[in-house]
Amino acid sequence: MSEWNAETADWYAKKYGDYPSNKLGINELEILDNSTIIDIGCGTGEALRHASGKITGGKFIGIDPVPRMIEIANEWTENHDAREQIEYHLGSAENLPVEDGIADYILAFDSIDHWQDIEKGLIEVKRIMQPTGVFAIVKDKSVPGASQAIETLTGELESVGFTVKDKKEISKQEIEFYLVICQLDL
Ligand SMILES: C[S@@+](CC[C@H](N)C(=O)[O-])C[C@H]1O[C@@H](n2cnc3c(N)ncnc32)[C@H](O)[C@@H]1O
Repeated sequence: MSEWNAETADWYAKKYGDYPSNKLGINELEILDNSTIIDIGCGTGEALRHASGKITGGKFIGIDPVPRMIEIANEWTENHDAREQIEYHLGSAENLPVEDGIADYILAFDSIDHWQDIEKGLIEVKRIMQPTGVFAIVKDKSVPGASQAIETLTGELESVGFTVKDKKEISKQEIEFYLVICQLDL
């Protein structure tokens, strides 16, 4: 889908708002207590709500360019135990409303294919990352050409200064996806 707006946000939330890759992807990460986690293209905020239950302390920031999606994420989070630690902001991968160097973990779960400009987005990810930060990307493995798309993405990541540390292929709960774990070249 290339067009995200209020209508597609409602459609997405209803059909895929708690898509299993959010929890499964988080479960694969070793997230340390008191981390700052930024979710780019956060959708309903499912990944952040789940992540908040895995650690003590921490700050969770979801970013999405669609105002209706931010509204939905806030609605879905208002009665959550960690609601004081989770915030959502309007913004895009290409222009993240986040200060430099604060993120311990950055998530792009089924979102990178929707960015307008991947190179610009990756440079923004670098800007907001701690030097030892982890960038975790989820990409659907069931679509035609998925394996080639991962190779292309690996090249894009490396060309802006990331090292791909791990590339997992996960098949669970009737879905299959890649989880690509990157860090900065130091
Ligand atoms: C397929 S949904 C995935 C949502 C959520 N991460 C999940 O896995 O359930 C893609 C999300 O990317 C967002 N998006 C679209 N363009 C974007 C951009 N330029 N930067 C960041 N996110 C974007 C959409 O609004 C949507 O919430």
